[in-house]
Amino acid sequence: MNCNRRTVLAAACLAAFALNVPAFAAKPLVIGFSQVGAESEWRTANTVSIKEAAKKEGITLKFADAQQKQENQVKAIRSFIAQRVDLIAFSPVVESGWDTVLREAKAAKIPVILTDRAVNVSDPALYATFLGSDFVEEGRRAGRWLLERAKKTPDAAINIVELQGTVGSAPALDRKKGFDEVIAANPKLKVIRSQTGDFTRAKGKEVMEAFLKAEGKKINVLYAHNDDMAIGAIQAIEEAGMKPGKDIVVISIDGVKGAFEAMIAGKLNVTVECNPLLGPQLMQLARDVVANKPVPKRVVTQESVFPAEVAAKEFPNRKY
Ligand code: AHR
Repeated sequence: MNCNRRTVLAAACLAAFALNVPAFAAKPLVIGFSQVGAESEWRTANTVSIKEAAKKEGITLKFADAQQKQENQVKAIRSFIAQRVDLIAFSPVVESGWDTVLREAKAAKIPVILTDRAVNVSDPALYATFLGSDFVEEGRRAGRWLLERAKKTPDAAINIVELQGTVGSAPALDRKKGFDEVIAANPKLKVIRSQTGDFTRAKGKEVMEAFLKAEGKKINVLYAHNDDMAIGAIQAIEEAGMKPGKDIVVISIDGVKGAFEAMIAGKLNVTVECNPLLGPQLMQLARDVVANKPVPKRVVTQESVFPAEVAAKEFPNRKY
């Protein structure tokens, strides 16, 4: 059989035609993704969403877990640049300190997409787009819920303790800002303690124990920047002999299944949704950016608020 180059190509084309697939399929897109870590139920859902969407889209995903450390993210981004990936996406653990590494990516002509959290850089052209929630608005939503609730006891002073997220991270800064901005409308609402719980259950519990030791029964409300810290704190409140959701009103952010379970059990009063299922949108944006198609500079995730009263009804619909 004469098997020269032309006959091999013709055979490949015929076979492809018979199978109804492109004869010379394009090289799969390669994305380097640097994840913050695995600090919360939210983060786990976010990682699963990104991995599943890449798989479904036939995109090669090089995934690196930074274990909540900026230096690990910088290393991962540099390694993606060295590997000449088509695009880099990352969820920055903190807001500042990204200029140098993002300039390196730009010099290497590798586009960057921010997911979930924003960066504070001198030149916004250092990234193509930012996909994620409006954290200031999430803080405002938490604050508005409390303002409404406070109308039930108009004369009472309301002492709030706050569990902040990771120091210097966009969600911690913005959720604080949005909440403070809204509760300023009612001088009876006062944040008496505010400390980081690093977005984890263990730290949330530990810091709440310290708040309870210092302030005891003076605490009326806990505002936690995520559900995991609220769930840790709920344990601390119970261990202190108090009833979370009743003796202390508990407000948190994310809307993970664990929060719905706590609401159904009457231990959490409200969760403000922060949607981690960013995978499909990220893959589409990545394709568009690599193909040089115009993309919006900011893509905001749609979210709502779930008070305890709707928890049982909503629970079966929750995807994370
Ligand atoms: O950046 C999103 C935040 O990070 C989520 O609210 C929190 O749970 C996570 O760790």
